[in-house]
Order: sequence, then C-alpha cells, then structure tokens
Amino acid sequence: MTHNKKSFVSAFNDIARHKHRYKVFEDFVTMSAISLHNAINKNETLEKEYMTIQAKYSKDEVKAFGRLLGMLVELLQDEPKDVLGQLYMELEIGNSKAGQFFTPDSVSVMMAKMLYGDKITLPDCGFITMSEPASGAGGMVLAFVKELTNQKLDPARTFWVQCIDIDRTVALMCYIQLSLWNVPAQIIVGNTLSMELREQFFTPVYYLFNWNYKLRKRNKELAENKEKNVSEETKIEVEKSDPPSQPMAEIVEVDEIVQLQLFENL
Ligand SMILES: C[S@@+](CC[C@H](N)C(=O)[O-])C[C@H]1O[C@@H](n2cnc3c(N)ncnc32)[C@H](O)[C@@H]1O
Repeated sequence: MTHNKKSFVSAFNDIARHKHRYKVFEDFVTMSAISLHNAINKNETLEKEYMTIQAKYSKDEVKAFGRLLGMLVELLQDEPKDVLGQLYMELEIGNSKAGQFFTPDSVSVMMAKMLYGDKITLPDCGFITMSEPASGAGGMVLAFVKELTNQKLDPARTFWVQCIDIDRTVALMCYIQLSLWNVPAQIIVGNTLSMELREQFFTPVYYLFNWNYKLRKRNKELAENKEKNVSEETKIEVEKSDPPSQPMAEIVEVDEIVQLQLFENL
C-alpha cells in the first residue's frame, strides 16, 4: 500500500470507530457522491438523504469525511485508476457473493490497449461510446480514460459511457471517480440481467458540456442514417432484381437505438 493510501485508511479508521466499517464507508461514498452531484444539479431528495446521513455523525466526523474526500482527490489525480475499488477490497468490506472483486489497474489497462490498439480513432460524431454492464467502481472505464488522456484526447469531449451496477454504494464509487476525472457518464443502479433499473446519476460534466443535446443529436443522426440505409438497400434490391413473381416483403421498421431510455425519477 502506498503512503497516501495508508493515510487514507488510517483517517478512515479514525472516523466513528464504534460504527461498522462498511456502514461508515457507505456513508462516506454516499455523501461524497451527493456533494459532487448537487454542486451542479441540486436534487432535493438527494439533499435530504445527505442531511439524514450527516445527522448520524458529530461535527468533527463530518469534517473528517470532507478531508477524506480531499485525500481521495489527491490519490486520483496522478492518473485515472480505480483507487476506491482497491481501497474497498483492502478494507475488506466488499461483497464477495456479488462478485465484488475489482480488476487490478494493470489488467484493465492491458484490456483497454487490446481494445483500441496504439491509436484511438474517433468516429464521425466526434466521440466514442461505451457500455459497462457490471461497472464496479469503474476500473475498466478509468483504464480507457487513461488511454484517451495518453493520446491527448479530452474525455470530457470525446467519450461517453453508461455504467450499471446492482450495488448502489459501488455504483456511487464509480460516480465519484468518473466525476472527478470529468468523464461524461450515466451511472445506473440496477440489475443488468433483468433490466430492473432503480436510479440514475449523471456526472457533472454531462450537464456542463451539454451531453444531453450531443447524445440526442447523435441518436437522431444514427436513426436517420439507418433509415436511409434501409431505403437505399431496398432501392438497390428493386433496381437489380427481375420483377418479383411474389409481392415484396414488407420493409421492417427501424428499431430504437443505442442508449437506454432516460427514466424519470431523477
Ligand atoms: C467482478 S466485479 C467487476 C467490476 C468492474 N467491471 C471491474 O472490472 O473492476 C462485478 C460487479 O458486478 C456487479 N453485479 C453483479 N451482478 C450484477 C447484475 N445482475 N447487474 C449489475 N451489476 C451486477 C457487482 O456488484 C460488482 O460490482
């Protein structure tokens, strides 16, 4: 464990020693995530949740949570990597039954390199989209962000990711880390297998860089292109073939594409 990580663990262990470690960690993560979210887009339900958690701690402990977040920012600032996931495992508070073993950074970086090779090429729309169906604290996404920044590409403008995790605390860990690295992201708390989706959180840069507009524009263009391609293909078919002996098959309607529908409760 690095010196900085040791300081984080020791500061964490000093907070509310009488409480269960998992609960304190959950409260730290939830309060930090809400602070980041509400600084840009104030949500009253989240604000109330923050105040309820805060009321369980002394003034000094609340201040200590603030210092802990500061330490996390420092730990994360050298490069995008899964600091919180590693801490979560080192503190031994993860749920092994839910498969909460987070991939080590070196493996995630290798996978990101295998995916995109030496040079990342942006598609015509100007940004890459990714889906992480079991995101954990976002280690694999952060490894890809590292590749982007190595290639002097700004994640805030060139990357969009949708992450899902069944465990709210873990999803919020992902939210914190992607927010601090300015990654435009939608973090969903839900079950990827059954598609029961409970909550969603957008990172601050999503609002600041108008990603809602960018995504809608891209989805519209994709839908139009798909529609155009379908009718082009149909035209070629008609032009090439002999007059059909049977009536032609109906043109299948183009599906809704790409992102999950935005849902309402946030
Ligand atoms: C092995 S971890 C991997 C996390 C991350 N992808 C990484 O490589 O570090 C798997 C994650 O999937 C989540 N998970 C398990 N079942 C899930 C489900 N049905 N839907 C969404 N997430 C799930 C767990 O909470 C856990 O955080």
